[in-house]
Amino acid sequence: MLISAAQTPDDLAAMVRRRAAGLPLEHVLGWAEFCGLRIAVDPGVFVPRRRTEFLARQAATLAHEAAVPASHRAVVVDLCCGSGAVGAVLAAALDGAELHAVDLDPAAVRCARRNLAAVGGQVYKGDLYEPLPAALRGRVVILVANAPYVPTGAIALQPPEARLHEPRVALDGGADGLDVLRRVIAGAPRWLAPDGGLLVETSERQAAQADEAVTRAGLIPRVASSDELSATVVIGTRPSGTR
Ligand SMILES: C[S@@+](CC[C@H](N)C(=O)[O-])C[C@H]1O[C@@H](n2cnc3c(N)ncnc32)[C@H](O)[C@@H]1O
Repeated sequence: MLISAAQTPDDLAAMVRRRAAGLPLEHVLGWAEFCGLRIAVDPGVFVPRRRTEFLARQAATLAHEAAVPASHRAVVVDLCCGSGAVGAVLAAALDGAELHAVDLDPAAVRCARRNLAAVGGQVYKGDLYEPLPAALRGRVVILVANAPYVPTGAIALQPPEARLHEPRVALDGGADGLDVLRRVIAGAPRWLAPDGGLLVETSERQAAQADEAVTRAGLIPRVASSDELSATVVIGTRPSGTR
């Protein structure tokens, strides 16, 4: 990949030096492949993981099943969007979707704006739901979040590419890894449309607790997993007829 990306032998030598020094391959290349899309990944921005393709595909499937009137554009929100990879896949899969994405980290917001400009995605900087326009309340058909979920004590066990080259705010989910996810789940019902779905990625070990949080929030819970990608997604659907 480095050979095909380099313009000159000097360029290639510089790229090899950066990779050998420990930079993630995607940061050296400046992009990652995600669900067949080329996503720009700037230095210091979380590299979209292969396992998260499962989250994106589950969200696309759920969106296709949602009964959105032909005259309406499906509203999709990607919280903790990082590079915007998940939102980009959803926008590509759902013709004409109205995409909103949020991240706390200015570098991620800049990168996501670049990746989502072509599909007209709006990217906001701020904490979870706080920067979203109030007009989206009760209208979100798909709310997807790959929030940080590594327990603080497990960060030291992450590969150096993550520990040293991705920001801590992209990884650290607090003592049990669920601090941010619990806030995402608790806030979801006010934003979801009736029958709308929340989808969050967790580890296999965290799924039961996330599932309980989804139930406490008044959503109908379900867990989906992929052995092939070692991926777990907890899904909560807002029952129709609730306010
Ligand atoms: C695990 S990364 C996932 C990025 C992207 N969704 C993906 O799958 O490639 C988590 C992202 O959440 C962002 N983040 C962490 N806490 C946040 C918060 N309270 N509000 C908004 N974004 C947050 C981080 O800056 C980081 O970009």
